[in-house]
Amino acid sequence: MTVKYLDLKKQYESIKPEIDVAIRQVIDETAFSYGKYAKEFEKNFAVYLNTSHLLGTSSGTSALHLALLGMGINRDDEIITVPNTFIATVEAISHAGAKPVFVDVDPTTYLMDPVKLEDAITPKTKVIIPVHLYGQPADMDEIIKIAKKHNIYVLEDACQAHGAEYKGIKAGSIGDAGVFSFYPGKNLGAYGEGGACATNNSKIAKIIELYRAHGEIQRYYHDVIGYNYRLDGLQGAILNVKLNYIDSWNEKRRKIANLYNEMLKGVGDIVTPYETADRKGVYHIYGIRTGHRDALREYLTNNDVQSAIHYPVPIHLQKAYSYLEYKKNDFPVAENQMETELSLPIYAEMSNKDIEIVVNKIKVFFNIGVK
Ligand SMILES: Cc1ncc(COP(=O)(O)O)c(C=O)c1O
Repeated sequence: MTVKYLDLKKQYESIKPEIDVAIRQVIDETAFSYGKYAKEFEKNFAVYLNTSHLLGTSSGTSALHLALLGMGINRDDEIITVPNTFIATVEAISHAGAKPVFVDVDPTTYLMDPVKLEDAITPKTKVIIPVHLYGQPADMDEIIKIAKKHNIYVLEDACQAHGAEYKGIKAGSIGDAGVFSFYPGKNLGAYGEGGACATNNSKIAKIIELYRAHGEIQRYYHDVIGYNYRLDGLQGAILNVKLNYIDSWNEKRRKIANLYNEMLKGVGDIVTPYETADRKGVYHIYGIRTGHRDALREYLTNNDVQSAIHYPVPIHLQKAYSYLEYKKNDFPVAENQMETELSLPIYAEMSNKDIEIVVNKIKVFFNIGVK
């Protein structure tokens, strides 16, 4: 039996009756486009995050784009983020017409390094986007301190960090705005695409609302050239059900991460993920690092254990961003992470037996496979 990287079917089976009723309701009421259930989810997720505004969107990517529009991005503006993220963070910067600027990450947490951040700020910098990568919150106090000093917005990319906490405050609710993805594999995932933008800033919220639905103030009266970036009704209803489980699912992920940490201690050259004491990670991804990453991955694949790499190429070295003219060794910490990271199976329904199988295969690999 293969140990799956993620088993969404198991999650569905655990909440099937509630999900089926929720889907049926949307169909019976034909509440498909945005509508009652998407709005209900927006209200509930705002309460969960403790923010005054929560706008459901068609994806995390569109949420990022809308948030940048809400922050009044103009051509020639510079937006700072990290190179070790999913490309959507940077695509949104491009879609808003701005120039992406990268800063390297901290070598312990692999999150935005505030020291390097300060050096990258220019008079053109308008927004900083820290990414709560793998579900670990970035150093928000330091980042916000620097942003305030230079009068710059902070947009949290919390697309992998639903329910994560920084000093007891929910990730995505700390900066000027925070965005989430509800891509099916996320800790809080839809049954299709979805996203959201949270903010306590009414001005930003108003602009997002305007651009989200074709720039309409009144039906068929368009004040700006907008987008169709609304959250789908079916996804709203499904997310409403799943929101009730997110904390218990995250706790299970944290338990699995702790088990892995314990069991992988001293195995080969493995470095397990680092969690800062004042933060609560939600382990969307459990990424180990090893100098034998590719061989280990091949061994696990051949022995029925799925794994993944997040991500094989940092954004500054992607072909799509070659016009920025970054080169190898510009961001050595992020580059090293991308060469050594291996994501192990993790999801709330994963059994202890599966965890043991994964760890035992890794142990065998290091005993027999590496001299
Ligand atoms: C860090 C990060 N940013 C942005 C996104 C984009 O979200 P989506 O796939 O919902 O557009 C994702 C998820 O895929 C992500 O992991």
